[in-house]
Amino acid sequence: MTDGLRKGLTSYGDAGFSLFLRKAFIKAMGYSDDALDRPIVGITNTYSDYNPCHGNVPDIIAAVKRGVMLSGAMPFEFPTISIAESFAHPTSMYLRNLMAMETEEMIRAQPMDAVIVIGGCDKTLPAQIMAAISADLPTVVIPVGPMVVGHHKGEVLGACTDCRRLWGKYRAGEIDDPEIEAVNGRLAPSVGTCMVMGTASTMACITETLGLSLPMSATIPAPHAERFRLAEASGKVAAAMAKAKGPRPSEILTPASFRNAQVVLQAIGGSTNGLIHLTAIANRTPYAIDLDAFDKIGREVPVLVDLKPSGAHYMEHFHHAGGVPKLLKQLGGLIDLDARTVTGQSLRDVVAGAEEVPGQDAIRDRHDPIKPEGGLAVLHGNLAPRGAVIKHSAASPKLLQHTGRAVVFESVEDMTLRVDDPDLDVNADDILVLRNAGPKGAPGMPEAGYLPIPKKLARSGVKDMVRISDARMSGTAFGTIVLHITPEAAVGGPLALVRTGDRIRLDVAKRSIDLLVEPAELEKRHAALKLPAPPPGTNRGYAYLFNETILQADEGCDFDFMRRGGK
Ligand code: FES
Repeated sequence: MTDGLRKGLTSYGDAGFSLFLRKAFIKAMGYSDDALDRPIVGITNTYSDYNPCHGNVPDIIAAVKRGVMLSGAMPFEFPTISIAESFAHPTSMYLRNLMAMETEEMIRAQPMDAVIVIGGCDKTLPAQIMAAISADLPTVVIPVGPMVVGHHKGEVLGACTDCRRLWGKYRAGEIDDPEIEAVNGRLAPSVGTCMVMGTASTMACITETLGLSLPMSATIPAPHAERFRLAEASGKVAAAMAKAKGPRPSEILTPASFRNAQVVLQAIGGSTNGLIHLTAIANRTPYAIDLDAFDKIGREVPVLVDLKPSGAHYMEHFHHAGGVPKLLKQLGGLIDLDARTVTGQSLRDVVAGAEEVPGQDAIRDRHDPIKPEGGLAVLHGNLAPRGAVIKHSAASPKLLQHTGRAVVFESVEDMTLRVDDPDLDVNADDILVLRNAGPKGAPGMPEAGYLPIPKKLARSGVKDMVRISDARMSGTAFGTIVLHITPEAAVGGPLALVRTGDRIRLDVAKRSIDLLVEPAELEKRHAALKLPAPPPGTNRGYAYLFNETILQADEGCDFDFMRRGGK
């Protein structure tokens, strides 16, 4: 038998002895033979004192264990890396693939018949799903859930759209020191993930749409009792999957489920990071994401969910309005309802169970959308031969067609040093350009694409400017911001050729971003281009692996040898 505790025996050259030894040691924890004969559900523990977003993980695990044991299986909790967005240096994206590799190998190395992965803070769900797909063991995903909202002076606050908005006001001198301190204590009033439609919420909605988690799992607030009942139910589902030996991710994920995920990404006004993660997830399967097809979906799919930063509400309002099942219902024929889920139900069954909430205005009807087109657009042009992305649902409409003079920053450090310099030659019509902030250049493609408005302009009332870079941006941010320019400057992409004073044309309707410089001049600059030296420390360890094998944004920034089929 190769299930339960007998699975994946440690190799001592004598299988009987291997099992004898394994049982002898695990009995030190007080387990009975009855317990050890049950199917096993592994449960990842990503709790960490550094990760407040995952602060409810111990309680979720307790509820999962209850569900597993009520169903006659045995839960085994094990630790994996935890990544918290604001505690990861140089950036959480740098560690996503490490978490994916580690989680995959621990699922594979330890005996379990099914696994529950519990994550939420931005990079964790993508990493865990990438791992689960590659390990291809029956898997249920439980997002930790969003925080509840905060309040300040009668206003509803949410991390981190309002972190940025209010910090912008502080920079502009509209808020003083005591008030920004008060705001600091009110932006994140509970454990859980950011409660706007940032990357965490986006990935939770995508996970639910892919059928990898139970209905409503994306939206139940982190501290609510319902979240723990969902965890118990997830434990029961995982126990059933452990006994039935399926369905595995490879049996759930299809081209239709990935198309559904892209439709939902557009309809929620989801994070630009969501596209990178979905691309990386899909590249672990046979069904790659095509950026142009994604853009086409965006032209057909309206934004229906009215959440910040594209709209007005927060995740708890989305939840009380009916959550992802209700959204799928409103999307009607744009969703393939035959797609399967971990519960054995199809999305048709999920939609049939969607709650009707009278008077709710967080999930709009298709005929009354927030925006007529989806949240994200893919741009091409001589500046971005392999693509760039803009979240036009969260941009200033008047800047979506704009030609301006480039003001170039060589790196994140250069930008930090100079952007607030009173002598910086910059005006509101200029286009701020940041380079060497891509997957390889920074490294890890930090969320630096939301370049701050230079202080002197902010103080004169400028709220938005066109900003372009090979970096990423937090899904919670607002502005006319072109991201993920590919190839990045550090590998010789055309962004490396831009000089301060050049003119750049952005035309989102035409999906174009171009450097208005003659081709002969660009060739001359290209011939003289010197690529930057690799960041310090890249000659050993994980940094070496990262620098040698990281893929560009259009390929999901996975390591080249981790895609399906390997290198
Ligand atoms: Fe963890 Fe936003 S910081 S989800």
